[in-house]
Amino acid sequence: MSQLFSPLRMRSVEFRNRVFVSPMCQYSSHDGLATPWHLVHLGSRAVGGAGLVMVEATSVSREGRISPGDSGIWSDAHVEALAPIAAFIREQGAIPAIQLAHAGRKASTDAPWRGARAIAPADGGWQPLAPSAIPLSAHHPTPRAMSADDLRTLVEQFTSAARRAREAGFDVVELHYAHGYLVHEFLSPISNQRDDEYGGDLDNRMRLALDLTRAVRAAWPADLPLWVRISASDWVDGGWDVEQSVTLASRLKALGVDLIDCSSGGLVPDAPIAVGPGYQVSFAAEIRRRSGVATGAVGMITEAEQAEHIIANGEADVVFLARELLRDPYWPLHAAHQLGVDAPWPPQYERAKPR
Ligand SMILES: Cc1cc2nc3c(=O)[nH]c(=O)nc-3n(C[C@H](O)[C@H](O)[C@H](O)COP(=O)(O)O)c2cc1C
Repeated sequence: MSQLFSPLRMRSVEFRNRVFVSPMCQYSSHDGLATPWHLVHLGSRAVGGAGLVMVEATSVSREGRISPGDSGIWSDAHVEALAPIAAFIREQGAIPAIQLAHAGRKASTDAPWRGARAIAPADGGWQPLAPSAIPLSAHHPTPRAMSADDLRTLVEQFTSAARRAREAGFDVVELHYAHGYLVHEFLSPISNQRDDEYGGDLDNRMRLALDLTRAVRAAWPADLPLWVRISASDWVDGGWDVEQSVTLASRLKALGVDLIDCSSGGLVPDAPIAVGPGYQVSFAAEIRRRSGVATGAVGMITEAEQAEHIIANGEADVVFLARELLRDPYWPLHAAHQLGVDAPWPPQYERAKPR
């Protein structure tokens, strides 16, 4: 009996298996609007048998985009562009999910294949927002420290985005508090040097994350799951770490968050990250064990047996795959076969199913 391919129920949602498509920016939106690229990219991974397909980091506001090509959800036109994608994912038996994000001081940069350089306002860029006026690096612009008014607006933007995500037909919202983007910047003492109630001790640094989560939980249907992605560690002394992550996870769970998606890094350029197969799984395991919340493991999970072991061992409740699903959108169908599970193939492809 495969645990990886056993269904999972969360609130009113049932996932056909625990192989989930990790959110992946495509830098292919026009003014934040999803394009046919997104339908094909996300749709083929739903066809490939994943239990859930998550739309990339989707910005709650225009200035919250990482790049001008980022996905957005700040208007009703964005809902219209996303709705057919959510519907197609669902038709294939996968659960449609979306990650809601704000890039903070990492905003206004170019797509990776154009060098990921900061874009100056004169070239169509904009001044990023952050907890404090501290740039990511010498090559990045100095962000504007957010005012109390900015923070109130941000809460409204996240709640509107969650309502729109539901209108578009998504069943799961994941809040992006990881990878050195805005909310992670508030959590980490390295990027947050505020002296108001949103900076300083751990309670203050967590305040924005908790405010946003509370507001989104109230705006998001009670019968649908709400998740949060965190960076469990900055991988440097004096930064955000696993201890603080366990505290945050417990507080988020108490607010009605159903799963913590445990990533790491992204706040400190060139941090010494010990990358290797399954290198972040221990974060998911520790947070799950100590805070009692369901967790997702992500990061260099590429083999069927490896993924099966993570779930069967109780290290995480689900696995998120990113690059391996770019290499092979049908990975879940192949993994099921390897594990001796008779997962249904789309009827259109049935004649190709290995027996
Ligand atoms: C092309 C690409 C885009 C990504 N975009 C996002 C994103 O939008 N949001 C996010 O939380 N992580 C993003 N990530 C990180 C992945 O979701 C994942 O955490 C990371 O790639 C590690 O998993 P992997 O080893 O299976 O690729 C991205 C990764 C890739 C390769």
